[in-house]
Amino acid sequence: MINNLNQLSEKIYNTDFKSLDNEQIYKVLSELSNQMLLQRKQNSKDKRKLYYLSAEFLIGKLLKNNLENLGIRDEIEKILLENGKTLAQIEAVEPEPSLGNGGLGRLASCFLDSLTSLDLKGDGVGINYHLGLFKQTFKNNSQLEIPNPWLEKSNALIKTDVTNIVKFGDLELKAVMYDLPISGSGQTSNTLHLFDIETADESIVKDGINFDKKDIKKNLTLFLYPDDSDLDGRHLRIYQQYFMVCNAAYLILKELQDNGHSLDELDKYAVVQINDTHPSMIIPELIRQLTQNGIAFERAVEIVTNTCAYTNHTILLEALEKWPYESLKQIVPQLIPIINKLNEIITEKYPENESLHIVRNVPMKFKKVSSINKPYYILKNIKIVHMATMAIHFSKSTNGVAQLHTDILKEDTLKDFYKIYPEKFSNKTNGISFRRFMYYSNRQLSDYITKLIGDGYKKDSNKLKELMKYIDDEKVLNKFAQIKKDAKINLSNYIKETENIYLDDSYIFDVQIKRLHEYKRQQMNALYVIDTYLKIKKGIYPAHPICVIFGAKAAPAYTMAKNIIHLILCLQQLIENDKDVQKHLKVIMVTNYNVDYAEKIIPAADISEQISLASKEASGTGNMKMMLNGAVTIGTMDGANVEIAEYVGKENIYIFGKSAQEVIKLYETNGYKSSEIYENNQAVKDAVDFIISDELNKYADLTKLEALHYDLITKDWFMALLDLQDYIKVKNKLIEKYNDPIAYRKMSLVNIANSGYFSADRTIQDYNNDIWKL
Ligand code: GLC
Repeated sequence: MINNLNQLSEKIYNTDFKSLDNEQIYKVLSELSNQMLLQRKQNSKDKRKLYYLSAEFLIGKLLKNNLENLGIRDEIEKILLENGKTLAQIEAVEPEPSLGNGGLGRLASCFLDSLTSLDLKGDGVGINYHLGLFKQTFKNNSQLEIPNPWLEKSNALIKTDVTNIVKFGDLELKAVMYDLPISGSGQTSNTLHLFDIETADESIVKDGINFDKKDIKKNLTLFLYPDDSDLDGRHLRIYQQYFMVCNAAYLILKELQDNGHSLDELDKYAVVQINDTHPSMIIPELIRQLTQNGIAFERAVEIVTNTCAYTNHTILLEALEKWPYESLKQIVPQLIPIINKLNEIITEKYPENESLHIVRNVPMKFKKVSSINKPYYILKNIKIVHMATMAIHFSKSTNGVAQLHTDILKEDTLKDFYKIYPEKFSNKTNGISFRRFMYYSNRQLSDYITKLIGDGYKKDSNKLKELMKYIDDEKVLNKFAQIKKDAKINLSNYIKETENIYLDDSYIFDVQIKRLHEYKRQQMNALYVIDTYLKIKKGIYPAHPICVIFGAKAAPAYTMAKNIIHLILCLQQLIENDKDVQKHLKVIMVTNYNVDYAEKIIPAADISEQISLASKEASGTGNMKMMLNGAVTIGTMDGANVEIAEYVGKENIYIFGKSAQEVIKLYETNGYKSSEIYENNQAVKDAVDFIISDELNKYADLTKLEALHYDLITKDWFMALLDLQDYIKVKNKLIEKYNDPIAYRKMSLVNIANSGYFSADRTIQDYNNDIWKL
């Protein structure tokens, strides 16, 4: 091994391995793992191949995972140690690819990992964003966004010689393909293909993350999810989406033909999974390219329908994309005749049922659908194209991502579609990479589990159940407690180093890490903090000291989410300055929460906060990650929490709040009035009013907190006040339980032992058996 490393060092840096600095070592190691992965690659031409199309891939750092998957981590660590280095130091200089946002993008990455581990052929296709989502910083207790230029540093991307011309109505761009080899525990490797343009220009970004949205030649591949609060922003998203799918279609058809198959056999040799609606233009684009190559329109529709499958990740209407017809006509005129014909097919079949049509007029009733409304919803009678509708009609499968979510799709959101295509609908409960989120990032836990039950669980996660035989073994439970404690110390050290905030590892680590959205209800957790604070001031202390840890980015244009971050940061500062309160309660919002941070926080979590308004969180995957690492969940009966509760049993999860059915009813009947709860409950009123108190406003921008306060008592669209009292009650019970260490560790062990179902390996097998058949 050392010979290989020396050779590579000579080649890249003209010197031997031991003379390299950390960044150079990173480059050499990443080069080595890429080389080894590329050698692994096998192309079985006669098997069907999956193309996983996604606007985002939240892949996280790659080096450690690659070394582990290649089976050379220990060897490399030894060599590094001989040179006075640790792998952690090298990892610290590795940039985290900034190609994703939240659960949807992380799911895509877990899927690539599992596909590769199961030796299934499946590549990802996406965009090479230069500046990513954004990097989060805090100033005056508010979120500020700055670019995240991850490509400037050494990274693992490989530039290929594949180029394509992508045509838009008003311009033509040359696309270049970059590859990232993906490792898993299997013997093959898959590839993430990321398309880019050579004319992208980071220097047009000024003043945070602002730039000229019209300058497509320069801005196309700069940001993931650029601000779409105005028409130019929405147009940029259409440019990006078409760019992605046009390149994907070229790639898919080229590989098909290179493997000696005819275009007519597309569905036999390829399957395209459409990850949410962002890549749904792949449908008309594939039809366009097939017909251009001589296939009749009807046949092209049939082939494409048999090739594509669609995953829905949310029932929030704001995420089910609808593009103005006129915008599509301007940006991608080549798709318009196809979209029109697809629409005709549907309107001829279902003339009366307008909700099934692809091209529709915007009805006035969209006005109130969401609290972060987009202006175009309120325009009357403009024609819009419903991307999800197109994806459902012209693909072979539609799936939800947890049982409850799929049920809601069938019975509610998509019920008209379910009526006509019951056979297309199925559930595929999400899963996570156990490798990344425990075996490699919480090695101490994984090694101990191996000592107890052998390492069979790494191939078959259901074997974690065998841990149940230790449920009454105090020695084992104490060891698990010790491992948790060590993880908490690691996290505390890291936070001290990077954020200069001290966390006491004897406190309960209560963790809510996820994007910031009102439906996820970080504001309810903040109200819990306030309630606890007010009680402490009255001499009523929590049963055990608790540290509430948040990690979340808010979309730059989502004012209410940023106001909630502001509230949390103000609370953090208030308590930092109050020695007495700090003995019982701490709050921290970590800066720029990302996958790297997640891998450090998750092993240290005692409590996993999964408190979305029931019916709104399609699945959640952080819930699975923390469960796997022995945290106990407090949550609503929402998303995959429902299935977690089934696996661990009601005694090992803390459930509160109104059910999905009750919530859906409240929306239907307009039956929720937050003001009533506020007026009729003193504790709720006190907590809510504290948001605009003098004490807090010392640290705050009053206008932001006033807006939040006003919203909570007049609207509260995601019903934080509805469940607040129940939440406080149940959370305090859980905290009390923590004082019985054996009982708490038992719950923790039950959670680990029953997490097997939530491995992405299982999810991928489900997709493969029912949809992909690779
Ligand atoms: C979206 C959903 C989340 C789900 C994820 C992956 O981010 O909001 O609930 O877990 O997609 O499906």
